[in-house]
Amino acid sequence: MPIQTALFDLTGKGALVTGGATGIGRALTAGLAAHGARVLIGSRRAELVEQAASELNADIDEPRVFGTRLDVTDNDSVEAAVHTATERLGSLDILINCAGIQLRKPAIDLTPEEFNHMYDVHATGSLRCAQAAARVFIPQGSGSIINVASICSFVDNIEVSAYAAAKSAVLGLTRSLANEWVKHGVRTNAIAPGFVVTDLNRQNLVGTDRGRRILERTPAARFGQTSEMAGTAVYLASPAAAFVNGQTIVVDGGFLACGFTDSVAGEQ
Ligand code: NAI
Repeated sequence: MPIQTALFDLTGKGALVTGGATGIGRALTAGLAAHGARVLIGSRRAELVEQAASELNADIDEPRVFGTRLDVTDNDSVEAAVHTATERLGSLDILINCAGIQLRKPAIDLTPEEFNHMYDVHATGSLRCAQAAARVFIPQGSGSIINVASICSFVDNIEVSAYAAAKSAVLGLTRSLANEWVKHGVRTNAIAPGFVVTDLNRQNLVGTDRGRRILERTPAARFGQTSEMAGTAVYLASPAAAFVNGQTIVVDGGFLACGFTDSVAGEQ
């Protein structure tokens, strides 16, 4: 078998990244585009998406990032975004389900509506987008789906029960799609970021007692940066991961692996 020299090359590939205008989704988009992919980012606010696309294009040799309005809780919007992706990118080969919300609330006060909305964005939203993309991927015999899970898919994080339940469902969905669709050449995997400071959690992490306690039990003794999530997405999307299917890669500075740490975070 010939040795592949371009293991991480995404040239000519088209990618749809939900929630791609901000935070982790934006960093994943930058990573894919830097490796040659053409990327459509989708989010609910059209003007924010267009601005993010133009800023991302400023960092690469030619414009490869485009924006579209997308609400992952709306079937028609998802179908339209996938259609736009195939039209504007020339092909659709990669889907990253990164759209997300957070709700910090004691479980005793959580309403069924709040719980269902959380599930709709993270779990049903990922399924909706995966189905729409798979209607392109399955006939073409190839595709890579990357779901964004969380360390809350594995361990609790106090008063985020709706989020934890929805992110746990994302793991099960990842395994099921991986199992059902690999026979069509479609791989499904997930990334589980640890604590990464973004708009979703900044006010709860930075300068708070909660943030200090998280750092105390994080072996790396710091929060992650959005850019540190990109390498895993590039890897999972690329030929380097051709035989990787149904896996969730945790990127958390060692948080999940840690029972007890001599991290110096508490001394800072
Ligand atoms: P963020 O708030 O910057 O990004 C979330 C994006 O999703 C935003 O652009 C938002 O507009 C978009 N979005 C929300 N609802 C949507 C909908 N219905 N349709 C389309 N887009 C929608 O926050 P962050 O942190 O970058 O989150 C990205 C993903 O990473 C989320 O799935 C989050 O749960 C996950 N994550 C984040 C962690 C962190 O520490 N920041 C840790 C683990 C997972």
